[in-house]
Amino acid sequence: MKALVTGISGFVGSHMAEYLLSNNIEVLGTIRQRSRMDHIQHILNDIHLVECELRDPFSVETLIDRERPDLIFHLAAQSFVPTSWNSPTDTIYNNVAGQINIFESVRRFQLDCKIQIACSSEEYGHVEQDEVPIRETNPLRPLSPYAVSKTAQEYLGYQYFKSYGLNVVQTRTFNHTGPRRGENFVTSNFSKQIAEIEAGKKPPVIYVGNLLAKRDFTDVRDVVRAYWLALEKGEPGETYNIASNKCYTIGEVLQLLLTLSKVQIEIQQDPARMRPSDVEILLGDYSKFNAKTGWKPEIPFHKTMEDLLNYWRAR
Ligand code: GDD
Repeated sequence: MKALVTGISGFVGSHMAEYLLSNNIEVLGTIRQRSRMDHIQHILNDIHLVECELRDPFSVETLIDRERPDLIFHLAAQSFVPTSWNSPTDTIYNNVAGQINIFESVRRFQLDCKIQIACSSEEYGHVEQDEVPIRETNPLRPLSPYAVSKTAQEYLGYQYFKSYGLNVVQTRTFNHTGPRRGENFVTSNFSKQIAEIEAGKKPPVIYVGNLLAKRDFTDVRDVVRAYWLALEKGEPGETYNIASNKCYTIGEVLQLLLTLSKVQIEIQQDPARMRPSDVEILLGDYSKFNAKTGWKPEIPFHKTMEDLLNYWRAR
């Protein structure tokens, strides 16, 4: 069994590769010229890397025709919400065109493979107070270009399933974190700042954005297990929430991280970290996915935060 992981050198991609290797699956991954290799350095001898520009149809066709994977985990994306306001066109083009190129190649070469696409709880966007916990049937009211790009990716998955019978399973994943999370994302950003303060590399002040937003966090190691199960047991054409069914305000996340540290730290709001619009609450109901696959999150949030803080302390 051969699995292709797009974005293998990224945060989720590297964990996905580790999970697949531990299940004796042959792992193939796409990288770009400028990809950083530090997340996959330790498994370089066990995986096969191919340079591929997903925006380029020729590059994707060559890869799919030559490698003919049985499973595709499509994780590569521009995934940082604030970047999508600065580069909306690029975010939408990158996330949508890359996926179309994969679908068209699979269709053209008539591959009988299963494809998981990493969609997002950001698609729910504006959520009314009486609409939580969020089920897959909730309305989609995206509030950022990133969220629109993920909504488009998801509808394309459904459309290619209906039009051409491609075996696409859509996962709408709520926030996820853990070791190797990119430093722009809130849990990693706060952890990195704390680790630098502890090491005396910066004054004891932590800069923050909107602390009132509520998010539902799952450990990345639980998420990649979910992606595997999505292809093993999920229904093609269906969408599944991957979530923990618990949510915290970002202020609570900050307090948890501060209690994991012994140093005294002052909190300061940085206006540059505020967004033109922010999703107020994401709290996910994962019962549809649980009923289909038996999946539930196993790693408690405080353990994820400890591991993340220790990751930054060791860097
Ligand atoms: N990044 C960041 N930095 N966010 C901050 C900060 C800060 O200093 N302070 C407060 N926040 C708030 C943001 O305004 C947002 O409400 C929340 O923390 C989470 O921000 P991010 O970690 O950047 O993640 P996100 O919720 O925008 O998006 C993540 O989750 C999606 C799933 O819901 C990303 O991982 C997306 O790729 C993913 O699809």
